[in-house]
Amino acid sequence: MQNPKDYISQNKERFLNELIALLKIPSVSADPAFSQDVLDASEAIKSSLLAAGCDIAEIHETAGYPIVYGEKIIDENLPTILVYGHYDVQPADPIELWDSPPYQPVIKKTELHPEGAIFARGSCDDKGQMYMHVKALEYMVKSNQLPCNVKFMIEGEEEVGSDNLGIYVANNKEKLDNDIILISDTGMIANDVPSITTGLRGLSYVEVEVTGPNRDLHSGLYGGAVANPINILTKMIASLHDENNHITVAGFYDKVEELSQEERAEMAKAPFSLEDYQDALAIESVYGEKGYTTNERNSIRPTLDVNGIWGGYIGEGAKTVIASQAFAKISMRLVPNQDWEEITELFTKHFESIAPKGVTVKVTPHHGGQGYVTPIDTIGYRAASKAYETTFGKKPIPQRSGGSIPIVALFEKELESKTILMGFGLDSDAIHSPNEHFGVWNYLKGIETIPYFYQYFTEMKR
Ligand code: BES
Ligand code: MN
Ligand code: MN
Repeated sequence: MQNPKDYISQNKERFLNELIALLKIPSVSADPAFSQDVLDASEAIKSSLLAAGCDIAEIHETAGYPIVYGEKIIDENLPTILVYGHYDVQPADPIELWDSPPYQPVIKKTELHPEGAIFARGSCDDKGQMYMHVKALEYMVKSNQLPCNVKFMIEGEEEVGSDNLGIYVANNKEKLDNDIILISDTGMIANDVPSITTGLRGLSYVEVEVTGPNRDLHSGLYGGAVANPINILTKMIASLHDENNHITVAGFYDKVEELSQEERAEMAKAPFSLEDYQDALAIESVYGEKGYTTNERNSIRPTLDVNGIWGGYIGEGAKTVIASQAFAKISMRLVPNQDWEEITELFTKHFESIAPKGVTVKVTPHHGGQGYVTPIDTIGYRAASKAYETTFGKKPIPQRSGGSIPIVALFEKELESKTILMGFGLDSDAIHSPNEHFGVWNYLKGIETIPYFYQYFTEMKR
């Protein structure tokens, strides 16, 4: 592989402008108001795949948003890499907290990104990271160095649970046949500390509803004499963790894999400053499950968090009322071996069992998925590691992430192939938050590193 650096620096402005054009499309999958934009984004991806050198790029309809499929098959006997990414984004709300409008990308310097970062919804998650693969393909095709076959599968429903992708994958096993799946939709430790994500957590997301009296009541006339659904809900939620911050849902930990002391010691070698971590979040102290470090709490341990809670009167001034109902959205991040459907059931049973007389509760599952751990003694991991070593001058550290990409476990089940997670974002890039950004350096470094993965993987596969 010739060094891609020259090609990248010659085409840097265009690479940035193309990504900026894509980021201007507000492809929010969760909100039907943006449905045309989501479709526009899929068309844009299709065109970009053709322009980059795919022989085929197609829009495949699903019951929801389409999947963009592209391929360049140069020789049936060579390995095939399947690239997955998503063109949908999270809602930008609350918009007023953005320093610049979420769909008008601007490049600004930050402390961690002295060469500038692109500020826009989806810049890091996942348009910027997905587009690195399109530009890496362009480089390999234009310079006649594509060493193997490549397939692209870019979906528009990742941020809402990938339900239709699951069906698509199960129905198109042969078409999607591959030797390795490659995804850039995670992060790395720091620009001078490259890492490869070796684990993702599973997820169970539920909504709970507590109902008391059949109507809202005067809080003076009825207060103290009937169960107040908001009081009850908050009490129930508070009881879901004990004094050591262990989750109290019966059976919750039964299948949790306990790491050996050696594995934990290995994990603890990853550079981490508790002080920097706290400073970045403006907190005086971290908080979490007793007996585990911060890095363990957000990777190898399961969690239960309220993501939203509402009920009663929240308008101007005071209204004296006992609401008839109270609601909350709860996410549980799961670790390998915890089955998300089983956990959803355990949660439902537990939540129903702790409801006092005087209220009824309802638990509605939203979406979920299994966790994933990728072994590091594989050709895929070794090829990725060597690619980082080539472009960063350092061996990357394997690290489990706290986030979830539920479709990865399904890929393994349906397509029987492993996934390599080459993420180039930083945790501080504010994905899902206001002022999401992606370093220009990271974007270009990704484009530089990916072709080496293709080369090393193809060589090692021989
Ligand atoms: N790209 C993220 C997941 C991620 C980010 C994993 C950083 C590791 C590091 C993905 O788009 C995402 O947001 N996933 C959701 C789950 C999905 C079912 C909505 C998540 O983790 O909340
Ligand atoms: Mn993502
Ligand atoms: Mn996301």
